[in-house]
Amino acid sequence: MAVTATARGAIQRVPNDLEPYWMPFTANRQFKAHPRLLAGAKGLHYTTVEGREVLDGTAGLWCCNAGHGHPKIVAAIQAQAAEMDYAPAFQMGHPKAFELAARVAALAPGDLDRVFFANSGSEAVDTALKIALAYHRARGEAGRTRLIGRERGYHGVGFGGMSVGGIANNRRTFGPMLGGVDHLPQTYDRSKQAFSRGEPEWGAHLADELERLVALHDASTIAAVIVEPVACSAGVLIPPRGYLKRLREICSKYGILLIFDEVITGFGRLGTGFAAEYFDVQPDLITCAKGLTSGAVPMGATIVRKGIYDAFMTGPDHVIELFHGYTYSGHPLACAAGLAALDVYAEEGLFAKARDLGPYWADAVHALKGLPHVIDLRNLGLVAAIELEPIPGQPAKRAFDAFLRAYEQGLLVRTTGDIIALSPPLTITRALVDELFTKLAKVLKETP
Ligand SMILES: Cc1ncc(COP(=O)(O)O)c(C=O)c1O
Repeated sequence: MAVTATARGAIQRVPNDLEPYWMPFTANRQFKAHPRLLAGAKGLHYTTVEGREVLDGTAGLWCCNAGHGHPKIVAAIQAQAAEMDYAPAFQMGHPKAFELAARVAALAPGDLDRVFFANSGSEAVDTALKIALAYHRARGEAGRTRLIGRERGYHGVGFGGMSVGGIANNRRTFGPMLGGVDHLPQTYDRSKQAFSRGEPEWGAHLADELERLVALHDASTIAAVIVEPVACSAGVLIPPRGYLKRLREICSKYGILLIFDEVITGFGRLGTGFAAEYFDVQPDLITCAKGLTSGAVPMGATIVRKGIYDAFMTGPDHVIELFHGYTYSGHPLACAAGLAALDVYAEEGLFAKARDLGPYWADAVHALKGLPHVIDLRNLGLVAAIELEPIPGQPAKRAFDAFLRAYEQGLLVRTTGDIIALSPPLTITRALVDELFTKLAKVLKETP
């Protein structure tokens, strides 16, 4: 529904004028021919403009971990908007930004206790990559400029994140991107891992490919390795057991910074504050966003080890140490939402709740085995993937069709290629897990 001005300047809602909005990561023509418009959200459900209820199987876009419209988060945003809309982010501050940084640092593992705010996951990633490069330079190792990502990794859409990312569709139309980037192999092999419950047993040795890249490029040229602990956007690729620990060992051996991109896995998705805790692996930097404010206000953050921050704190006091930042870094509304979200997570024990629900969730996921076209099922924490056999010559069509059918039946899922991904709000109940999978099973049976 678009909004236009009438001749007298009054604002009017004009149904079906959907053309001006160029929608992100969307089949625009298909959408505009068959719009799916949401009008409201409360708890675990959306309401469409037609008044239909839709069960949110994806926490919006992996972000509304506390469910929708939580009264505490809503009230915090409203109060902050009335109290102070904006405070300059450069050379000025406001108390809630410091408070939120301290709270995020307290949640992060080990000595990851300095926090740089951005407005999205993409910005948090580009911030992390820039900090990694500048850190080595500050320590006198300016030759460490190479960044290493992973095939099928998703690190947002900035030029940095796209360059270290490994999803072909997101890269191929945008030219040469950043130089000096290499990629680890992705960790998924269906012939060895299909229908694994939780972490697959096969594949930890793929971390040793980092040794090969070190031999090729020399450690003295490598600044950082960035991986998602669980590669969610490319279809929920669960790390093989022991893989992340091995990656950590190799990075430590060669003085390479390890960045965990926890934009999705942060804030309870695996039943812990961060996936680093779940896997018991200490990265040097963590990027996060989404669940930081439970999706209520855009915000991203890059969390770094104290030693990394300290390396910048040299030279005259009045000189800016890092020439980087955003107008809306630590925006008051985002900080208010973030503080309220962290309160809700703690007061309602949502991370523990997600952890406790994990086995029930896993059973529900794997009960889909044997349904038409299902060639793999994956799960960890409150995340799952249902991989479908593609229609020959029409990749992604079958899953997209299932997505449309699910929406018609009152269930929101997410698809990437021929993979259906699920990541409900952490507030989901067993009864709603049952409802979700009953609907999905029906959809899978009906999808040609
Ligand atoms: C791991 C990861 N990094 C970065 C991003 C980009 O976040 P944003 O869309 O907020 O820029 C995403 C988004 O899904 C993500 O999953």
